[in-house]
Amino acid sequence: MLSATVTLDPAFVVGPVRRRTFGSFVEHLGRCVYTGIHDPEHPSADADGFRGDVVDLTRELGVSTVRYPGGNFVSGYRWEDAIGPVAERPRRLDLAWHSTEPNLVGVDEFMRWCAKAGVEPMMAVNLGTRGVQEALDLLEYCNVPGGTNWSDRRRANGAADPYRVKMWCLGNEMDGPWQIGHRTAHEYGRLAAETARAMRMVDPDLELVVCGSSGSVMPTFGEWERVVLSETYEHVDHVSAHAYYWEEDGDLASFLASTVDMDHFVESVTATADAVRAAGKHAKRINVSFDEWNVWYQRRAESRPPSGDDWPVAPVLLEDRYNVADAVVVGSMLISLLRHTDRVHAASLAQLVNVIAPIMTEPGGRVWKQTIFHPFALTSRHAKGEVLRLAVDSPVHSTARFGDVATLDAVATHDPETGEVVLLATNRSVTEDVVLDVDLRGFPGLRVVEALTLANPDHTWSATADDDTSVLPRANTTAKVADDRARAELPPVSWSIVRLGRA
Ligand code: AHR
Repeated sequence: MLSATVTLDPAFVVGPVRRRTFGSFVEHLGRCVYTGIHDPEHPSADADGFRGDVVDLTRELGVSTVRYPGGNFVSGYRWEDAIGPVAERPRRLDLAWHSTEPNLVGVDEFMRWCAKAGVEPMMAVNLGTRGVQEALDLLEYCNVPGGTNWSDRRRANGAADPYRVKMWCLGNEMDGPWQIGHRTAHEYGRLAAETARAMRMVDPDLELVVCGSSGSVMPTFGEWERVVLSETYEHVDHVSAHAYYWEEDGDLASFLASTVDMDHFVESVTATADAVRAAGKHAKRINVSFDEWNVWYQRRAESRPPSGDDWPVAPVLLEDRYNVADAVVVGSMLISLLRHTDRVHAASLAQLVNVIAPIMTEPGGRVWKQTIFHPFALTSRHAKGEVLRLAVDSPVHSTARFGDVATLDAVATHDPETGEVVLLATNRSVTEDVVLDVDLRGFPGLRVVEALTLANPDHTWSATADDDTSVLPRANTTAKVADDRARAELPPVSWSIVRLGRA
């Protein structure tokens, strides 16, 4: 059995636990909106057609912000198609996902859904086929109280009060050649700067997210951020990062170590942003909005859009079924995001329902939870207060993709109000148990309040609509505190949460 030591000290603080770290994403893609959040025929649907059971699970998941309406979809979107009487709304081709967009749900419905689900909306504007004017129109529609064309249209459509949306994404993945309206870094940087400058003339307090790279493997990674931030630095607040991981060719060890890439991604982007800051003699810092992250098996058939004359409404797309190992990686991605809370100021699990999602629905039928639901919900519920900088002494093992990696990946939070310390840890070994030994002398007198571990002898187990409860995070009875040291055994391929308090 391997062992790893972690030392905690209340003085070593990385930064606050930010609620916006627990954001998600709803795109007009596949069945995320239609038959996902919106299903008028469903028994739990409200007057807008929103499923009550999905709203309940969104709340249980602990989602803070929801990014909308895309994703690749936004780069061809005409937001004004989807306002006003539903029967008069046009149907359009959605080129990003080779689908038909019926426009039954638009900005007003989405805002009502956010209010119902208790989440903060985060809007994206189309900088693919559109530009400054359309972004301004949407902002006016959403945030101006009244007395102008678009704000009065919103009022006429039933929303007397402005939505006051604070966070706005300036397009989506504009570095990607697959993006409608894809641009070079210079072209996009100029467009984003002009859009941001104009949007701030309407509302100087907006928080604006400029597009960073769609992945660290992009050939322009790094240089894209340098050029785009050089153009936009004073006009924006955050730069986006997107990362998806999957188990390739049965290489589980590398897959479990995916956060080596996520750590590298954040550290490279913030280093680049800080270099632009120094070169431009700027005072403020640009932080990261990690607004798409998850496990996504992009090469599976379910990620292939329709083709030819087939332009369906809400086809089955990107409906990955997640196993236990996938959930361990999702748990470790949250560890990486929290570890970088000083520079990652927002994040969105992509996506929320049906499309690479923690929540799945049957049209008109059951709702169920995927394995990845659990580490997200538990982290969102219990990580509070401040993120602590840990001293970790872990064994290492070698991986084909990342070389030698620490077997234990961990982070801890401390809530000064309640005194609770929460330790989140993954054992990235494929074969070995790890005994976790935590030095708690900085927090004398703590006891184990709860310790849960997500693992299964068969890490390929996946939930289904018929059985989403056979494998859940279970009580880890090995977790104990004695003499201001906590100890817990972590099985291979596992994610754990250990809550310590003065109970
Ligand atoms: O989340 C699925 C897709 O992944 C999004 O539409 C796009 O932004 C990214 O490539």
